[in-house]
Amino acid sequence: MAVCVFSSLVTVLCVGLYGKYTYADPVVTPASLLVEYGGPAEVNCSIPSKPETGYMLGWESKTSQPDTDTETSVMWKVDSLTNWEEADGLLCYFTVGSTQCESNVTVTIYKRPDRVTLSSVSDVWVEGDQTELRCEIENVGPGRKLSVRWSRADPKQSSNFTQFNEMTFPDLVNEMKNMNKTVKLQVTPRREDDGVQYQCAAVLNLDEDLLVFPSQPLNVTVH
Ligand SMILES: *[C@@H]1O[C@H](CO)[C@@H](O)[C@H](O)[C@H]1NC(C)=O
Ligand SMILES: *[C@@H]1O[C@H](CO)[C@@H](O)[C@H](O)[C@H]1NC(C)=O
Ligand SMILES: *[C@@H]1O[C@H](CO)[C@@H](O)[C@H](O)[C@H]1NC(C)=O
Ligand SMILES: *[C@@H]1O[C@H](CO)[C@@H](O)[C@H](O)[C@H]1NC(C)=O
Ligand SMILES: *[C@@H]1O[C@H](CO)[C@@H](O)[C@H](O)[C@H]1NC(C)=O
Repeated sequence: MAVCVFSSLVTVLCVGLYGKYTYADPVVTPASLLVEYGGPAEVNCSIPSKPETGYMLGWESKTSQPDTDTETSVMWKVDSLTNWEEADGLLCYFTVGSTQCESNVTVTIYKRPDRVTLSSVSDVWVEGDQTELRCEIENVGPGRKLSVRWSRADPKQSSNFTQFNEMTFPDLVNEMKNMNKTVKLQVTPRREDDGVQYQCAAVLNLDEDLLVFPSQPLNVTVH
C-alpha cells in the first residue's frame, strides 16, 4: 500500500507503507540549481537509512542516470551541461517494492551572450529625421528570460547612462534554448542629442538573479 501526498508545489512528500516501514522522499541537495550552459553541475540524492528489503535509488535525467541498490546516496554529476532539456524533468526516485517516491530538482540553465553589438542604420544623423538603432545579441539563452534595456548618456551633463526603455518579448515565451535576437529602436534625433551616447544591454531575468550584458556605447553626431 502506498500513499503519495502532494505537500507543496515544490516537493512531493511520499509516504510508502511497506511492511512495518514508512518511507519518505529522498532528499536532494541542492533542491534548485542555477547552471551556466557548458558548466559543471551536481546534486546529491540521499535516503536516511537502508530499507531492509531490495530498493533502488537513482536519477531520471536527459544526460546521466546513475543509480544504486546498495548505497544510501547517489550523486548526479555532469562536467559540462549542454542539454537545455535538463531544465525540466530532473528528479531523484527511490523505489521499494511497489512504492516509488520522487523528489524534483529545479534546474535553471542560462547562456551569456557571445556578443552584444549596437549599431546605427545610418552613418549620419540629421536633426528631425527618424533613424534606427540596432542591437544584435548573439547566442544567448534561454530566449524566454531575455529582455533588452536601452540607455543613453549625455557627456555634456554627466557620463552616467540612464535607462529609458526596456523591451520584453512575449513571443519568446516558449524559447527554452539559446538564440540570436536583433532588436530595433526608432529614434528621431534632436539638436541637443549631438554628442550623446547610446547603449543597449541583453538582460537575463533569471528567478534568482538578474544578469546584464551591455554593448559598447555608440557615439552620436547630429547634423
Ligand atoms: C550525500 O548526502 C549524504 C547525506 O547527507 C552524505 O552522507 C553523503 O556523503 C553525500 N555525498 C556526497 C558525495 O557529498
Ligand atoms: C516532478 O517532475 C515530474 C516530471 O517532470 C512532473 O511530472 C511532476 O509534476 C513534478 N512534480 C512537481 C511537484 O513539480
Ligand atoms: C553618476 O554615477 C555615480 C556612480 O554610480 C554616482 O555617484 C553619481 O552621483 C552619478 N551622477 C549623476 C549626475 O547622476
Ligand atoms: C546565431 O548566429 C550565428 C552566426 O551569426 C550562428 O552561427 C548561430 O548558429 C546562430 N545561433 C542560433 C541559435 O541560431
Ligand atoms: C565617444 O564619446 C566619448 C565621450 O564623449 C569619448 O570619450 C569617446 O572617445 C568617444 N568614442 C568614439 C569611438 O568616438
